[in-house]
Amino acid sequence: MAASALNSVQTNALQQGINLDALPAHIAIIMDGNGRFAQGNGFQRLWGHRQGYKTLKNVLLTAAQLGIKYLTVYAFSAENWRRPEDEVGGLMALIEEAARHELRGLKENNVRAQAIGRLHEVPLGLQEALQEMKEDTQNNTGIVFTLAINYGGRAEILDAIKTIIKDNPAGEITEESINAALYDPTLPEPDLLIRTAGELRWSNFLIWQAAYSELFVTETTWPEFKEKELLEAVAHYQKRIRKFGGLADLQ
Ligand code: IPE
Ligand code: IPE
Ligand code: MG
Repeated sequence: MAASALNSVQTNALQQGINLDALPAHIAIIMDGNGRFAQGNGFQRLWGHRQGYKTLKNVLLTAAQLGIKYLTVYAFSAENWRRPEDEVGGLMALIEEAARHELRGLKENNVRAQAIGRLHEVPLGLQEALQEMKEDTQNNTGIVFTLAINYGGRAEILDAIKTIIKDNPAGEITEESINAALYDPTLPEPDLLIRTAGELRWSNFLIWQAAYSELFVTETTWPEFKEKELLEAVAHYQKRIRKFGGLADLQ
C-alpha cells in the first residue's frame, strides 16, 4: 500500500505497529460504562448514554477508515428492560433519534447499516427508523454496521431453532442450520470482541458467534473510548495466536 494512499487512522495504526493486511474483519463491541461515566461526572445516567452516542459515531468512522469490514455493537440487551422505565424510554428515544439523524451521514460514508434483535418488541417509531435506515443504506458497499437492539444471544439461538422447526419440522438441527437461521446469517463471526468499562463477562452478546472471538477488555468507559483505544485493541488482537482448538503452527 503506497504511503500516500493512507488516511490518518491508517497512518496512526502503522505507527503502533499494526499490520493493515491482517486486520480483524469483524469487530464486535459491548459498549459498557455509560452510567458510571455519568455518575463520575455528576450527571444522570441518560447524559452518559448521550455521550456514548457521540463515541459510537466516532468509532464507526474510525473503524471504517481503518479498513474494518464489519462492526457490530450492543446497544440494548434483551435484559436491559429490567432498568427503570425512564432510562429504558430515554434509551429507546435516543437510539431512534440517532438512527434518524445519522442516516444522511451513513449514506455519505457508504455505510451499510442495520439492526438485529427482537425488533418487533421495540417502540414502533424506532422500528420504523431502523427499517428506513436499513432500506436506505442496503446498497452501500462500505463497512457493515450492525446495531444489536433488544438483542440476547440466548433469544437469538432460541429464535433460530424455532425458525428451523417451523420451516422444516422433520429437518435435522445442525451447526450449519443454526448459523443459517441467525438474525443475519451473512455476518461473519466476530474476530475481536471488545468490552469497555472492565467487566469480565459476555452479558449474553453474540454467545453463539463469539465462541472463538479474541477478547479485549479495557477499563476505559464507553464515552471515553477513542481511536487510541480502538487501535490498542487491534494491536493486542494481532499479537494473539488463534488456534480454534487445534495447535499453533510451529515455526
Ligand atoms: C452501557 O452502559 C449502555 C447500555 C447498557 C445501554 P451502562 O448503562 O450499562 O453503564 P454502567 O454499566 O451502568 O456504567
Ligand atoms: C451489556 O451491558 C448490554 C449493553 C452494553 C447494551 P450491561 O451493563 O447491561 O451488562 P451487565 O448487566 O453489567 O452484565
Ligand atoms: Mg453496564
